[in-house]
Amino acid sequence: RPIINTDEIEDKGNFDYYMLKEIYEEPTIIEKTICNFTKNHFDLTRYNHVDIVACGSSYHVGLLVKYWIEQLLNISTNVEIASEYRYKKLIVQDNSLTIIISQSGETADSLAAIKIAKILKIPTLAIVNVIDSSIAREADNIIYTKAGKEVSVATTKAYIAQLLSMALLIENNKALFEGLPKELSHIIDNKMEDITQFAYQLYQSEHIYFLGRGVDYAIAMEGALKIKEISYIHCEAYAAGEIKHGTIALIEKNTPVIAIVTDNNIREKTISNMKEVSSRGANVLAITNEDILDFNNKIIVNKLPMIIQPFNIILILQLLAFQIAKLKGCSIDKPKNLAKSVTVE
Ligand code: G6P
Repeated sequence: RPIINTDEIEDKGNFDYYMLKEIYEEPTIIEKTICNFTKNHFDLTRYNHVDIVACGSSYHVGLLVKYWIEQLLNISTNVEIASEYRYKKLIVQDNSLTIIISQSGETADSLAAIKIAKILKIPTLAIVNVIDSSIAREADNIIYTKAGKEVSVATTKAYIAQLLSMALLIENNKALFEGLPKELSHIIDNKMEDITQFAYQLYQSEHIYFLGRGVDYAIAMEGALKIKEISYIHCEAYAAGEIKHGTIALIEKNTPVIAIVTDNNIREKTISNMKEVSSRGANVLAITNEDILDFNNKIIVNKLPMIIQPFNIILILQLLAFQIAKLKGCSIDKPKNLAKSVTVE
C-alpha cells in the first residue's frame, strides 16, 4: 500500500466532521506548500502545449489552471476528463507535456491516462498527494502536494494544495503567495455568519445554479460539485454567457442562482446575466470581490491578485457546501454512493 504523505494523526480533534477539520487546515497547508516550493522545480515554459488530465475535483483544478497557463505563460492548454482521454484518438502536439492531477494517485482512469501518455512518448508530470502511489510511480516528474491525509470523501484541502502547487509552478515566485494563509484564516474567522446565512437560504432547494465567466466559471464548477456530493441537491454551474441558450428556461420565482464575480475584465458581463435571471424571479446570491450595488444578497471578499483570488472564493464555497449539508443532516464525511478513491473503472 502507498505510504500516506502525512505526519498528522488521523483523528477529528475538536471537530465533529473531518471535512470541517480539513478545511480549517488549509492555511497551514498553504504555508507548508509555499515553504516546500523551490524555484525551477519544474520549468513549464519549455513546452509548447500542455494537456491536463484528471477526474472529479482534480479535473476542476485543471479547468482553472488552464486559464492561468494560457494567460500568464502563453502556452496552449487542453483539459481532459481522464475517462474520456483514455478512449479517444489523441492528437499529439509538438513539444507537449501531459499533467496528471490526482489526490490519491490511484484513480483508475487517471492511471490509465498517464500510461497512455507514456506509450505516446509524451513527457508527464504528476501532481499527487500520496507518496509512491501508482500514478507517482508512472510519472516522469512528480510534484507532491503537502495536504496530508484527507479523510473526508469530498476533497477540500487537497484541492487547495493542488491549485497552489500549480500556481507556484506557473508564477515561479513564492513571495506573491505569502499573505495567502492569513487571507484564508480571515475568511474562516470573519465570514462564517454570512456563509451560514446563505446556507439557510439554500438548504431546502431542489436545484441550485451557479454562474461565472472564465476562472469564476471553473471555480463555480467545483462549488457545484461540492454541494452535490455532500448535500444531494441538484446543482450545476454554467458559463454565464451560455444561460440564454437554454438554462434560463429553468429559472422560476425564487430559483437560487449563485454568481461568482471576481474577474474585473468580464465583471459587467456577468452582472448583466445576473440581472437577466433576477428579472425572471431568481434569488441571486453573489460572491464577489467588489460590491455590486444592484444586488443585496452578497458575500464580499478581499480583492487579490488574479492568481490568488480563487483561493478565498473556493474556501467560501467549501464552507457553504458544508453548512448546507449540515443543515440538511447529511452524512458529510461519507456521502452515499461515493468513494474517496475510485480504483476501478
Ligand atoms: C473521487 C473523489 C473526489 C476526487 C476524485 C478524483 O470521486 O470522491 O473527491 O476528486 O475521485 O480523485 P483523485 O484522487 O484522482 O484526485
